Amino acid sequence: MQLYGVIGHPILHSRSPDLFRQAFAAENRPADYLRLAARRFDRAIDLAQSLGLAGLNVTSPFKKDAAGGADSLAETAARLGVVNVLIRQNEKWRGDNSDVCGVLATLREGGFEPQGKRCVILGAGGAARAALLALRLGRASRLTVINRTWTKAQAVAGEFATEARAFSQLPAALAAADLLISCLPPGADPVVAEWLPAGLTVLEANYHQPLLSPKARARGCRTIDGRRWLVHQARDAYRLFFGAPPPEGAMTADWPPPPAAKPAIALIGFMGTGKSSLGRALAQRLSAPCFDLDESIGQHTGRAIAQIFAEQGEAEFRRIEKDILHGLPLAEPPVIACGGGVLLDEANRRFLQQHAVCVWCWSALPAILARTTDQTRPLLAVADREPVARRLLAERIPLYAAVADLVLDTEKQSIETAADLLADEIRSARNR
Ligand SMILES: NC(=O)c1ccc[n+]([C@@H]2O[C@H](COP(=O)([O-])OP(=O)(O)OC[C@H]3O[C@@H](n4cnc5c(N)ncnc54)[C@H](OP(=O)(O)O)[C@@H]3O)[C@@H](O)[C@H]2O)c1
Repeated sequence: MQLYGVIGHPILHSRSPDLFRQAFAAENRPADYLRLAARRFDRAIDLAQSLGLAGLNVTSPFKKDAAGGADSLAETAARLGVVNVLIRQNEKWRGDNSDVCGVLATLREGGFEPQGKRCVILGAGGAARAALLALRLGRASRLTVINRTWTKAQAVAGEFATEARAFSQLPAALAAADLLISCLPPGADPVVAEWLPAGLTVLEANYHQPLLSPKARARGCRTIDGRRWLVHQARDAYRLFFGAPPPEGAMTADWPPPPAAKPAIALIGFMGTGKSSLGRALAQRLSAPCFDLDESIGQHTGRAIAQIFAEQGEAEFRRIEKDILHGLPLAEPPVIACGGGVLLDEANRRFLQQHAVCVWCWSALPAILARTTDQTRPLLAVADREPVARRLLAERIPLYAAVADLVLDTEKQSIETAADLLADEIRSARNR
């Protein structure tokens, strides 16, 4: 199975996994797609490499870092200095940009042909640069960049040989425009409704609770949904990963509720990946109760896990584990530190996927072997542990990937740092 993923910070809100999983299902492709949590680009790449990912999408704020960090760049990415797709080829990362294709396809699908049109781009970041190049390629007649920071507007306009105007000139620029592409982040809302003429077409890049689009519709403008941009750039990224786009209509903005809407948090992953310590540290930060499944089994049965395995076998242990998991009180949503094999049971997978943000705690095999020498893990209580652990991990990776809402590195950062990052991700996604 091949793994792909998306990096950015924060990242738990990202809808890219929904889009790629739709396409993988439509094509019966043995692949899965993950959100990787990291505060820094180099950490995210480290995690992607440790997991053996074959390709990545890159989102805010890592797109420029990705252009600097890629081993080689495709022409569009080099021209923009912005990378939103990384493809792993022969142990090297090649950077590309699918936002340019995404913007053009979105405008055309929305009935807006840029040729000969006057366009205002609001913002001067990565999305704005992709929009500028797309409109250049689409032969727009006039491009105006307007940005909060004037020097950045000037720099970007200079790069694309077009004009920059001060923020105070936005109303006049809009009055004479056919298209406005807003490339501002969620919450930024500088456009006053009265500035929007009825003939204007508006594309708002941000699709999380958009503020501009409702105003534009109320003014009689045509609006194009920013989620279509996400879909089209994902289609083009898919083409870059696999050589051909997904089947028409396979990627849609018809998404399940976001992971952060689920009340509990479950830490999943192989034994020795720090789930128990992380569970306690996270529960403390979120003021939530913490349930350690293995500990609960010990309390419930009065016996150590190794003893249950030895006296009654693994099947009985799994039965007790399942009973305890499905009986957990969810009224006050807990942090659940799961045992490494809990996902072997399909009903357990469904239960966790339904009720909990599932966070896959990842450490590579050497770290796992170093941390599991204490003989308390019955499955690794053998003379030659390495091949057994390798086989078990390989068998379980597809299960962890299928359920994971987020992947967290628990090898190269301390439990405290990992807990801080995870708490930030959860809070940020819940506040959107
Ligand atoms: N739909 C899609 O598929 C798609 C694709 C790409 C991006 N996006 C979304 O587009 C947005 C921008 O992405 P990006 O990568 O271009 O981000 P970015 O590189 O961080 O640029 C953000 C831009 O917004 C401006 N800005 C930030 N806060 C502002 C405020 N309160 N008032 C006015 N201007 C403000 C910044 O101005 P300064 O220069 O003054 O800081 C900067 O020009 C994000 O929400 C991203 O998720 C969506």
